[in-house]
Amino acid sequence: MYINFWYPVAKSEDIVTYEPFRTQLLGQQLVAFRDSDGAAHVLSDVCIHRGGALGKGWVRDGTVVCPYHGWQFAGNGKCTHIPTVDEKSIPARAKVDSYPVQEKYGIVFAFLGDLPEAERPPLYEIEEYSKEGWRANRLVVFEVNAFYERSIENGLDPSHNEFVHPAQGSPTMAAEIRQKPLDTQDGPWGSTTVVRYGKERGPEALGDAAPLRTDPHASFSYHGPNQLITWIHFGDDSKFQQYFFEAPIDETHTRIFFINMRSFMLEPENDGRLVKVNLAIAQEDIDILEALDPVFTPSSPTEEVLVPSDGAVISYRKYLKQWKDNGWHIDMDTLRANHLNRAYAIPCPERRTSGNWVLKAVPLVSVTEEKKAATG
Ligand code: FES
Ligand SMILES: [Fe+2]
Repeated sequence: MYINFWYPVAKSEDIVTYEPFRTQLLGQQLVAFRDSDGAAHVLSDVCIHRGGALGKGWVRDGTVVCPYHGWQFAGNGKCTHIPTVDEKSIPARAKVDSYPVQEKYGIVFAFLGDLPEAERPPLYEIEEYSKEGWRANRLVVFEVNAFYERSIENGLDPSHNEFVHPAQGSPTMAAEIRQKPLDTQDGPWGSTTVVRYGKERGPEALGDAAPLRTDPHASFSYHGPNQLITWIHFGDDSKFQQYFFEAPIDETHTRIFFINMRSFMLEPENDGRLVKVNLAIAQEDIDILEALDPVFTPSSPTEEVLVPSDGAVISYRKYLKQWKDNGWHIDMDTLRANHLNRAYAIPCPERRTSGNWVLKAVPLVSVTEEKKAATG
């Protein structure tokens, strides 16, 4: 799992001014709440007094209150009130990490990392969102008992559809490209691959409403480690464009925020039916993902047999490697070894400009150390 990307924390409607929302991302506890102006905030959940869970407290005067001894923390992470200490004597160290927030598509996103604004990978922009001729389904959130990278790789894999997706009409890669290397184009934060399908493509579950398949093709991309984009074009006027913002809860659980844009069947009464079809398709993937062995993708290509149709998966792993080389990969072995005696926090941008933090930042894989270990 990687720091320094935007992660979906919660549906906007779940973050309120009257109670905190506690959640877990990248294996760390977080708390979200709205201040009195309605602005959403996401903080590290661990109270730096003596380890209380802020998310189990309450919100008062636009601050989150620790349920253990009533210390209050503002949206910027600073402690503003300690019931047993004079206001002027609040220690400078009494602060928790506070993460940059953006609200889009009905989702509260947090930037979980310490990069200054100018250097941050952008949050993915859905260009057709709110555009005429397009309709978004209601935001769907579902959970998978699998590692998020396995889930992203599944979305980048055109050869599974024919076997895993009867609800989609078992789409088959077009005969002329089936055994060829995939056409994958690199972008700054991920790559895009376009694949043609045979004309028999579904989704049959839509029955008579299914669009004419005049030129069926799909493009699939990833943006950062955790955002998957699948465009399914049945023909010029009938498109599904799907966006999966994935939240790695920990190494074996993933929460997926799913937005489906469509350019046909625009009447609102089709929403429910399409959500049903999409969830049936998702469940077909989930059944496969939850049974994969091992849970993580193998660290060496010698432990799998990869073929040309796995090209987009290979590209994803290449980008992950770059982000690891940037020093953004969380060292889960160290975290796991220490989890009973130390709370960590994902470092927030303010750590770059001020010291005096109580919790240690999550350990990151040191690339030099890893190279040394590999070369003995
Ligand atoms: S542990 Fe939070 S106020 Fe004491
Ligand atoms: Fe799938």
